[in-house]
Amino acid sequence: MTGARKVLVTGGAGFIGANFVRYWSDKYPSDRIVVLDALTYAGNRANLESVEDRDTYRFVHGNILDPAVIGDTMQREAIDTIVHFAAESHVDRSIHEPDAFIQTNVIGTNNLLMAARKHWIDSDSAPANHLFHHVSTDEVYGTLGPGDPAFTEQTLYAPNSPYAASKAASDHLVRSYHHTFGMQVTTSNCSNNYGPYQFPEKLIPLMIVNALTGKALPVYGDGSNIRDWLYVDDHCRGIDLVMNKGRVGATYNIGGNNEWRNIDIVNQLCSSIDAAFAANEQLAVQFPQAPAAKGQKTESLVCFVADRLGHDWRYAIDATLAESELGYKPEEDFESGFQLTLNWMLQNEGWWRAVMDGSYRDWISRNYSAES
Ligand code: NAD
Ligand code: TYD
Repeated sequence: MTGARKVLVTGGAGFIGANFVRYWSDKYPSDRIVVLDALTYAGNRANLESVEDRDTYRFVHGNILDPAVIGDTMQREAIDTIVHFAAESHVDRSIHEPDAFIQTNVIGTNNLLMAARKHWIDSDSAPANHLFHHVSTDEVYGTLGPGDPAFTEQTLYAPNSPYAASKAASDHLVRSYHHTFGMQVTTSNCSNNYGPYQFPEKLIPLMIVNALTGKALPVYGDGSNIRDWLYVDDHCRGIDLVMNKGRVGATYNIGGNNEWRNIDIVNQLCSSIDAAFAANEQLAVQFPQAPAAKGQKTESLVCFVADRLGHDWRYAIDATLAESELGYKPEEDFESGFQLTLNWMLQNEGWWRAVMDGSYRDWISRNYSAES
């Protein structure tokens, strides 16, 4: 698309969405960005602090299960581009409460597609160009064994958790709106993201917070499960390439080329925290409950706990298509990305304490005007 776009970012107050909003506002400052977010436990306006004051930005507190708020926002803002992040995103929660995943990830995605069809395809005042970009996951492809080739865009879907199944359903819906109604869509399926603003329930931020507060580091099963780790800014760059250079109707895998066993991640994290405390005496004052503050090894907190039900053993992404067609290449390796993440968590204790106890709402209302 050419000219300034009017971009609706669903789930823009979550981890990847907020990083994407900052990335996109910096790179395309004349684009209008409207965030639509229900502010579940995972969505925080504090994550959008860096863009709150921009004229081109607006926040709408609304749920994708509410067709009226979607339609109203699309009409009022003359939206021509949707980047769809909003989702229930944590596998462990999907095991305990699958229904919320079906609601938001399946019904919510369908609501967005129906609204997009109405405003972009069936309307007399449809914009000249439109794009619906759907953000999905490698978990739709199921699990891999040790010698299996990495997931490609041709790998058959075999989702194993309610989360993965709900994302697979949403991927199929997006595909069908392209095939049936001619909607301009792109989809990206990415590996495990990490970086600033990730809610401390996912492996890396949870382990960092627990290590700094002297709590156990719970490794599921024997810790041999493997994930491919993607620094969140590399993911944002990948989405940008897919949206601007990708073939309409196509799916692209975005990965980090960083396969790690969980136990190796946790051990690496422990030694990085020990090294950070050794290099900066102030950290022992700031985090007195951390083993590293008492001259002990952070690794002493590691404990092996019961495995996750249906725990996928390995995910790995083959990003050859995005590399060859779009020029995608991750910039961070795991060491550099992890160091950026750890430094951010050390410098933003106020953020993680506030999002974990829900008090970020007080923080944002002290700093910004009321929610739209
Ligand atoms: P997140 O859980 O941090 O954020 C989700 C956001 O969506 C939150 O701001 C939340 O308030 C919002 N939301 C949830 N339900 C909503 C609803 N019904 N209406 C409106 N807003 C709602 O998730 P994330 O980690 O940033 O993931 C973003 C997207 O990327 C998701 O679609 C996820 O499936 C996908 N993804 C994530 C990862 C990862 O490692 N985090 C990997 C692959 C794909
Ligand atoms: P997670 O961050 O939940 O992402 P996903 O399940 O989407 O891959 O988990 C990453 C890996 O870490 C996964 O194999 C489960 C494991 N894990 C633990 O061992 N302990 C934990 O406390 C968590 C949250 C995850």
